[in-house]
Amino acid sequence: MRDNTAATELLTWYDKHARDMPWRISPKDRKAGIRPDPYRVWLSEVMLQQTTVAAVRSYFETFTKLWPRVQDLAAASDPDVMAAWAGLGYYARARNLLKCARVISQELNGVFPNNRVDLQALPGIGPYTSAAISAIAYDLPETVVDGNVERVMSRVHAVETPLPKAKSGLTALAENYTPKTRAGDYAQAVMDLGATICTPRKPTCSLCPWMDICAAFRLGTPEAFPKKEPKKAKPVRRGVAYVAKRNDGAWLLERRPAKGLLGGMLGWPGSNWSDAPEPNPPFDANWTPSDVEVRHTFTHFHLVLSVQTATTDGSENPETGEFLPASAFRPTDLPTVMRKVFDVARDSLESD
Ligand code: ADE
Repeated sequence: MRDNTAATELLTWYDKHARDMPWRISPKDRKAGIRPDPYRVWLSEVMLQQTTVAAVRSYFETFTKLWPRVQDLAAASDPDVMAAWAGLGYYARARNLLKCARVISQELNGVFPNNRVDLQALPGIGPYTSAAISAIAYDLPETVVDGNVERVMSRVHAVETPLPKAKSGLTALAENYTPKTRAGDYAQAVMDLGATICTPRKPTCSLCPWMDICAAFRLGTPEAFPKKEPKKAKPVRRGVAYVAKRNDGAWLLERRPAKGLLGGMLGWPGSNWSDAPEPNPPFDANWTPSDVEVRHTFTHFHLVLSVQTATTDGSENPETGEFLPASAFRPTDLPTVMRKVFDVARDSLESD
């Protein structure tokens, strides 16, 4: 059964408490019937997958300054876009972002489709993003379900089934609340509620517009929801990263293959990452191990990298990578793990 009262109460709360974000339009514009630009909605929602609002803000500002329209992004070079995404993580998102921009620009006249089916045919657009664009940009009554919404629904209904098994049931519950009008505001209201009031720890139930309908609040145990299947422990993999500096200040870097982890990003040559990594320096030199290791956690494993540094006069012919002149190298273009390697290597090279 559709619960329109709950949606109305949440929208009243949102009108007062909506968070200010660079991709949202002002309440005044919203009242006047002005819709947000689908390009900005798409870009922000792709950035917000698995990533906090705080981390996304500055990236969104940079992207929209560099590439104000989807056609501008489509015309950008791959390395420029990957560099602008560096540090945000989940780099397949950036590769798909660029592919999607090019399809929209070259095949769809620069116009985003206005329905979920056509949106989901595009690279990198799944159920979450298609619903978000449909609701937020086009005000269609689609239901947007992210981790916040799952938490809110699991509490309102005191769902005993643990995640991830509960996902489809939580989506079905969420669908009952989506209103026929203001679906975009409503979608963002539930996400704001989850991010600011119905938080994972110490939710502020006393301020919640849905206190009266919440089963977990009545039980007095909101934090006990959502129930979760125990997580598998992440394995530890090891590897070696080689940082070579030429006497003129150039650095030996390689572009990682398009497919796979950190695909398309710039990085240091290195061994494989495994239980027993095989050392394979890019050229023979007096490689020196740094006394600090780099640690980084990916979705499925923890990585420990030992860092080896060398200086060279450039007479060597590296098996992989190219020397990038100091003037063309910006450490901020590196993904976070490679940036950590650089920071350790620079300290070692300076202390030599
Ligand atoms: N998380 C992901 N997308 C969001 C949005 N549009 N508003 C609030 N939180 C979000």
